[in-house]
Amino acid sequence: MLNKAFMWKEVLKLGFLGKRLKDVNQFFRRIVVEELNNQGFFDFLKSKHNIDEIAKNFNYTDIDYLKEVLFALLSDKTINYEDKTYFLKEPLVIKDKLPVLLNKSMMDYIRSFAAAIPARLKGEHLRYTTGYNLFNFDDALNLKVYSIIRKASFAFLNVFDKAGRLLDIGCGSGLETVEIWNIYFEKDFFSEDKIMEIYGMDIDKDFLKIAKEEFLLTLSNNSSYSKEELLKFKKFFPKFKVGTAIDIPFEDDYFDFVFISQVLHWTDSKKALSEISRVLKPGGIMFGSTIMKPTANEYLHIMLRTIEGANGFFDKQEFKNWLTESGFKKMYFSTPLTIFKCIK
Ligand SMILES: C[S@@+](CC[C@H](N)C(=O)[O-])C[C@H]1O[C@@H](n2cnc3c(N)ncnc32)[C@H](O)[C@@H]1O
Repeated sequence: MLNKAFMWKEVLKLGFLGKRLKDVNQFFRRIVVEELNNQGFFDFLKSKHNIDEIAKNFNYTDIDYLKEVLFALLSDKTINYEDKTYFLKEPLVIKDKLPVLLNKSMMDYIRSFAAAIPARLKGEHLRYTTGYNLFNFDDALNLKVYSIIRKASFAFLNVFDKAGRLLDIGCGSGLETVEIWNIYFEKDFFSEDKIMEIYGMDIDKDFLKIAKEEFLLTLSNNSSYSKEELLKFKKFFPKFKVGTAIDIPFEDDYFDFVFISQVLHWTDSKKALSEISRVLKPGGIMFGSTIMKPTANEYLHIMLRTIEGANGFFDKQEFKNWLTESGFKKMYFSTPLTIFKCIK
């Protein structure tokens, strides 16, 4: 009963994020519309055109992606659709509001995706691991948002009575893995009679390097224990490995738990879920969080889709179907920013 109350206390904190998400979504819309406007996209749509005419005029080659862009613009009636033609609903409105939830480095980072849309329409993708300002993104990852989401996910899991092997997928620069390690440490899980092993994995080798080399530093910065005291538990420190969620470098049935938070939309989510199921033992638990449609709006979706291999956001029904197809037997969700727990 107490655990349930605790879980809901953590989950309810996300209500605050849900409210802020409205501003954030408006920011996403604004930067995409501005980018397309700079390309002359809306000038062209002052007269009616079908999709082939739009593609031809701008030399767009990725018609499926163009459909997604048009769908986003239709979703909030920025443009209209009639008789197979698209046209601007004049005047073009670009709202000025800027979100308070995102820090500057995160906003710059997201702007880089919007800037990649014109090239993506011509068939060029961004590569996830290249060209980003690591310091800025790392900084952004330390936003409290992710921590709040993590706490809610852990409260939702509520299996601290059981030790096991846990894989943290998309661990970033390691703060997340430190927080996970601390949860188990404070509950006295690192002792000879328990087999609690924690692994961190990320596709980005630079992030992973920081996570690995600075684990003790990050840990002591986030702990009331001294470095010396923490070092006594060195043999229980996490093992870090570079790897992708769509090809997890571990054998079948290896883990009891897989934690994956705010990662699925960056990759081929369906494939990732079947990989996670493969490395989980029968009865093993995958838990974490993902923002789904419609909470994540269509504009954020098309920005993420500039990255090679990224499927972007999905809705709950798609998620449930993929989970079932991947062999998960039970699934639990909590909204508004979806926290999930799925049992194989
Ligand atoms: C938005 S961050 C979330 C980080 C962390 N899980 C948290 O909640 O604080 C997304 C992370 O996923 C990693 N990532 C992206 N695609 C991945 C993939 N295919 N496999 C593993 N990690 C991936 C990124 O490098 C980044 O560290």
